[in-house]
Amino acid sequence: MDFRYTEDGTPTLFHPGYGEAYHPRQGALLQARRLYLENTRTHLHPAPRVLEVGLGLMVNFRVALESALARGVFLRYLAVEKEPLPREVMAAIRLPLPLGERVFGEILKAWPEERFAGPWGELKVVFGDIREAALPTLWATAVFLDPFSPQKNPEAWEEEVLKRLRLASRRGAVLATYSAQGAFRRALKEVGFRPHRVPGVGKREWTVGIAVGAPRFPCNGG
Ligand SMILES: C[S@@+](CC[C@H](N)C(=O)[O-])C[C@H]1O[C@@H](n2cnc3c(N)ncnc32)[C@H](O)[C@@H]1O
Repeated sequence: MDFRYTEDGTPTLFHPGYGEAYHPRQGALLQARRLYLENTRTHLHPAPRVLEVGLGLMVNFRVALESALARGVFLRYLAVEKEPLPREVMAAIRLPLPLGERVFGEILKAWPEERFAGPWGELKVVFGDIREAALPTLWATAVFLDPFSPQKNPEAWEEEVLKRLRLASRRGAVLATYSAQGAFRRALKEVGFRPHRVPGVGKREWTVGIAVGAPRFPCNGG
């Protein structure tokens, strides 16, 4: 795997197996802030509970953490990651986030544990595949759906996975992702997220989905 810089000056990593970088060329931090933090309204939520698919280099986590620390709110973050990166690789990706990076440094010392906690909140990591991971029911206020692309990483975008994410989400939760694929949006609607197009950076559109109604399928997520 090799490091590279994105256009906002923040680094990312290229995964040779998937043939893709962990973040878009236009900016790792930029995408984390605009797409995941702001489009899900996590930056305004008084008690955010984030469910993430693909913890990767923890850029999205660190951006959510920075926002929570700056606002003095408690962050609960649950991430599912099937291929955790070694500590030294994570440590090489530093971000201009003055509050969050200090906490991130503490987390790194114990990485890879399954739970990290402090006055800032809690990070739980399920090391496994999102298709099988045990998830809480009606828990999340936001879902960061951030695997590699549907072309290269199709299993993480399956309708069965979206059902599991809907079941793990509270009513009104907002799911955000960079994919604007039509089939994906139709599946999102099918499982109970009302899809919306939002302007993207580096691509015309991103997708957000609002969890509406009640999940229409039996609890099977643990
Ligand atoms: C685009 S990167 C995520 C970047 C990350 N969100 C960040 O902020 O740095 C995609 C991640 O999804 C993980 N992943 C891919 N398929 C998965 C699956 N089926 N279940 C869980 N994680 C998966 C990969 O290992 C990788 O870490």
